[in-house]
Amino acid sequence: MNKSIKLIKLVVFLLFTQSLTAGEGMWLPQLLQALNEGDMQTMGMKLSAEDIYSVNKSSLKDAIVHFGGFCTAEVISNEGLLLTNHHCGYGQIQSHTTLENNYLKDGFWAMKKNEELPNPGLFARFILRIEDISEPMLAGVTDDMNSKERQSVIDKNMEVVKAKYEQDLPAFDDVMIRPFYHGNQYFVFVTRTFNDVRLVGTPPESIGKYGSDTDNWVWPRHTGDFAMFRIYAGPDNLPAEYSNDNKPYTPKHSLPISLDGVEEGDFTMVFGFPGRTNQYLPASAVKQTVEVLNPTKIGIRETALNIIDKFMRKDPQVKIQYASKFARVANYWKKWIGESQGIEATDGIGKKLEMEKEFLTRLNKNPAQKEKYGALLGDFEKLYNDIEPYAASRDYYNEVISRNIEVMRAAGLGGRLITALENNGEKGYSNMKQRLIDGYYTSFYKNYRPEIDQEVCAALLKMYKDNAPFKGLTSPMDKMMGVRDGGGDYTALAKKLYSTSFFTKQAEFDKVMAMNPKDAVAKIKGDPLYAFMSDMKAVYEDIVEPKYKEYNDQISEKQRLYMKALMEVFPEKRMYPDANSTMRFTYGKVNGYTPRDAVYYRPVTYLDGAMAKYKPGDYEFDMPAKLIDLYNKKDYGQYADNGKMPICFIGTNHTTGGNSGSPAIDAHGNLIGLNFDRAWEGTMSDINYDPSICRNIMVDARYILFIVDKFAGASHLIYEMNLVNPKRMPAPTPPIISKTPITKGKKSKKKKKMKVKGPNPKM
Ligand code: ARG
Ligand code: ASP
Repeated sequence: MNKSIKLIKLVVFLLFTQSLTAGEGMWLPQLLQALNEGDMQTMGMKLSAEDIYSVNKSSLKDAIVHFGGFCTAEVISNEGLLLTNHHCGYGQIQSHTTLENNYLKDGFWAMKKNEELPNPGLFARFILRIEDISEPMLAGVTDDMNSKERQSVIDKNMEVVKAKYEQDLPAFDDVMIRPFYHGNQYFVFVTRTFNDVRLVGTPPESIGKYGSDTDNWVWPRHTGDFAMFRIYAGPDNLPAEYSNDNKPYTPKHSLPISLDGVEEGDFTMVFGFPGRTNQYLPASAVKQTVEVLNPTKIGIRETALNIIDKFMRKDPQVKIQYASKFARVANYWKKWIGESQGIEATDGIGKKLEMEKEFLTRLNKNPAQKEKYGALLGDFEKLYNDIEPYAASRDYYNEVISRNIEVMRAAGLGGRLITALENNGEKGYSNMKQRLIDGYYTSFYKNYRPEIDQEVCAALLKMYKDNAPFKGLTSPMDKMMGVRDGGGDYTALAKKLYSTSFFTKQAEFDKVMAMNPKDAVAKIKGDPLYAFMSDMKAVYEDIVEPKYKEYNDQISEKQRLYMKALMEVFPEKRMYPDANSTMRFTYGKVNGYTPRDAVYYRPVTYLDGAMAKYKPGDYEFDMPAKLIDLYNKKDYGQYADNGKMPICFIGTNHTTGGNSGSPAIDAHGNLIGLNFDRAWEGTMSDINYDPSICRNIMVDARYILFIVDKFAGASHLIYEMNLVNPKRMPAPTPPIISKTPITKGKKSKKKKKMKVKGPNPKM
C-alpha cells in the first residue's frame, strides 16, 4: 500500500471514529467493554464496564427499569423509589385525579408509605442478563435462502433457544428474544417484572409540564418533567401482585444523586429503553421521508390541530377536555417538522449519498463484495419507488381514519362486540363489553365533543379524497356523496354520518349497551358510521395493505443485507444497532449548540428563565405561587448553583422516544439529571444523527430535589436518597459504585453531604 492510500485510509478512519465520539450511538451494555470502555474513559468516565453492566455483581443496570414498556425509570433509593418523567406517569396521575383531588393541577405527595397510590397494569421491568444468541438462532440459515425459508428456520431455532432459557425460570421472570442489526444478530434478555408500582409524588402540571406544547421539543427549556413511583415486592423481595402486605423493594443497586451539578464539557451517560431508530436507511428512503411521508402526516395533523385549537380557544371546558389529546397529536406533528428541517439544514441526504459513493468505490475494489452487495442501492431505489404510493396511502389511512377522526375508533371497536358475540356467545359478549367500556368508552365520552370531531372529519376526508394516491380508496365516500371523480360535499357527508350514528352521542350509546346482546349487535351493524368505517377499512385492506406488505418485506430483506454489507465494507466503523425498545446506553457531553447563524445556545437553564416566561393564568406558562415565593426569597437550600436554581441542561447523548425518564449519569455513576426530550433542530437524530445540532434535554437533578424538598415539603423522600458531592470532595480510592447499602432514616443532611462516592473528576 503506498503512502497516500495509507493516509487516506487513516483520514477516513478518523472521520468515522471521530463522528462517533461526539455522542452518536445507542449501545448494548454487555458489549460495552469490547466497544466503548476506552472511548468513554478518554471522555472522562471513571467507571469500568463491570460497574455499568455485570451479571455477577450489582451494577448500574440494576437500577434501571423499563417503565410500563413505553418509558424508562430508575431506582434512586434503597426502598425502591423510582424516578421517571411527569409525562411518563401522566396516565396514572390523571387516573387518580378527581375534581376534589386534582393531582394534575395541584400535584400530589404521599407523606407516608400507606398513602402511595396503586396503579393496576403498570409494571417496572429489570434486565437480569443479556446474551448474544446469534449462533443458535441462525444455525442452518444460508445465504441462498429466501426470506420465508430463512424466517422458518429462525422461528424453529427460537423455540429451542427460548425453551433452554426458560428452563428453571421463576414465573415472574421472562425471556425475550430480539433481532439486532436488522436481523443479522440476535440477543436474549432475561427480565424480572414487578407489577406493584405505586405513585409516590408528582409536582403540579405548572412545573411538570411547564411550557406545555409551545415549549415541547424546544431549547431553552424550563420544565420540571418528573414524577416518583415506588416498586413494591413480596416478603421475599421478589415480584408479587398488588397486596397490602407487600413491602418496598430493596434494589440491587440504586443511583446516588450528585448535588454538584454539571458544566459544559462534563461527561454524561444516558441509560434506558430507546424505542425505534432508523440510522442505516439508504438515501432514497430518507428522501421519501422528507419529501413525501413527513409532509403528508404533518399536513393532516396540522388541519386537525387547527380545528381543535379554534374550539379550545373559544371554550375553557373544551380546553380541559382536549388538552391531552391535542398534546399527543401535536407532539409528533412538531417532531416531524423539526426532523425534516434538520435533515435539510445538515444536508443529511447529501451526506448519505456521499457515504453511498464511498460504499460503491470500496465495492469496486472487492469483487466478492461487489457480487453480493453491488445491486443493493439500485434495488432500494426501485423498491422505494414502488412502495411510495402504498406507503403514502397507508399514512393517509392511519392518520385520517385510525387516528385523527376520533369517532372512527369508537365505531371500529363496535366490531369487537360483533365478533365476541359471534365467536364466544353472550358471555364472551358481556366480557368484551365490560372491557371496552372500562378500558375505552368511558374515558372517550368524558372528553368527546362531536361538533369538533365532525368538522375534523369533513376536513380530513376531503384531504384523503384529494390526495391519497389510489382512487378506489375513497369509494365508500363517493358512494355516500353520490359523486364519482372528485368534488362532493364533505361537510354534508360528515353531518349525515354524525347525526345518524349512535356512536357520536353517549346517551344513545349507553342505550345500545343496555340492550340484549342480539339487539345491540344488530344496532351496531346497522349504524351508518360503523358501516362507513368498515367499508373504508375494507377498501384499504384490499387495495393498499397486501402490496405495502409485499414491498415492505422485500425492503426489510434488503435492509438486512445492506446492514451486513455496511459492517463488512466499513470494518473500521463501530456500528451500533438501531433502537428496538431494548436496554441501551449512550454517552456524550454537556454541550451547547448553534441552532442558526450567529446564535449560540448555552447548555443550562435557570429558574430566572422560567420566571421570564411566566404568564399568570395561562394554561402553558402559569407558575405556582409557592415557587415564585421561593424564587423571590432565593430559598434554594443546598440545591443552588452559585446562588441560582438550575432547571434543565442539554448534552450530546443520542436518545429517542422511550428514553424519556432515563437517568443522566455522571462520570462516577451518580444521577445528575433526568432525560425527557430533545432539541427541535436535532430531532432527525432518529434517522441521521448529527453531532452539530442533536441534543437531548434533561431536568437537572438539583431542581428535582429542590421541588421535592423545598416546594412540596416531602423531605422524608430526600432522607431516603443518597446525596453525594463528587466534585467538591477530595477523592478516596475506588470502589466507584457504592456496595454499602444506604442507611435508612438518617436525618442529618449535613452528614449525607459529606458522603463521597467517587474520585474527584478535576484531578
Ligand atoms: N417531546 C417529548 C416526547 O416525545 C415530550 C412529550 C410530552 N409533552 C408534551 N407536551 N406533549 O415524549
Ligand atoms: N420525549 C421522548 C419520550 O417520551 C424522548 C425523545 O423523543 O427524545 O421518550
